[in-house]
Amino acid sequence: MIFTVAIDGPAAAGKGTIARAVADRFGFAHLDTGLLYRAVGAKAGDPVAAARGLTEADLGRGDLRTLAAGQAASRVAVIPEVRAALLDFQRRFARRQGGAVLDGRDIGTVICPEAEVKLYVTASPEVRAHRRWLEVGGDEAQVLAEVIERDKRDARRATAPLRPAADALLLDTTELTIEAAVHKAIAAIEQRIGQGRA
Ligand code: DC
Repeated sequence: MIFTVAIDGPAAAGKGTIARAVADRFGFAHLDTGLLYRAVGAKAGDPVAAARGLTEADLGRGDLRTLAAGQAASRVAVIPEVRAALLDFQRRFARRQGGAVLDGRDIGTVICPEAEVKLYVTASPEVRAHRRWLEVGGDEAQVLAEVIERDKRDARRATAPLRPAADALLLDTTELTIEAAVHKAIAAIEQRIGQGRA
């Protein structure tokens, strides 16, 4: 079965948690596409060459989850040649046999516009910064400033900017718990699978 779940949204909205829960529930493969950009941003030298030569080992680095790695990822992600170098891998992953869930910024709009289910997960910058601060610690105001800076860069870039696909289901986790958002995501996927069988 080929079945793609595309999950997009800004930093720390809960995309990763929802994607992992969906992958577990349906036995789909999961790709955190932010990790690709984080790995490119963490490599020394020319980012375009880094993206073209990206290996599994690059994705296993232990320092990719930091705030600095997120900022570096967002900076290299504006470069069209970097995005182009990562496109085929993501598209092939999305349409693999057995089902796939990808989370990122442009999955439903650019990587896989034909995805069977598209979710756009968001929350207020304050709520997202608080969640990220609980994970990384430090100064919460600084975490909020970085979240806002990254949102702006990701949404304003010319190539594949962050925005919901027209047919995406919007999940705002400002008020909704992540558990409730997971339930809604699973219900939407079950409904779509049911349509396919009808
Ligand atoms: O999801 P994340 O926080 O790990 O993503 C890090 C950065 O990578 C994000 O600020 C922008 C970029 N990114 C992107 O441009 N497109 C994606 N599909 C995923 C991430």
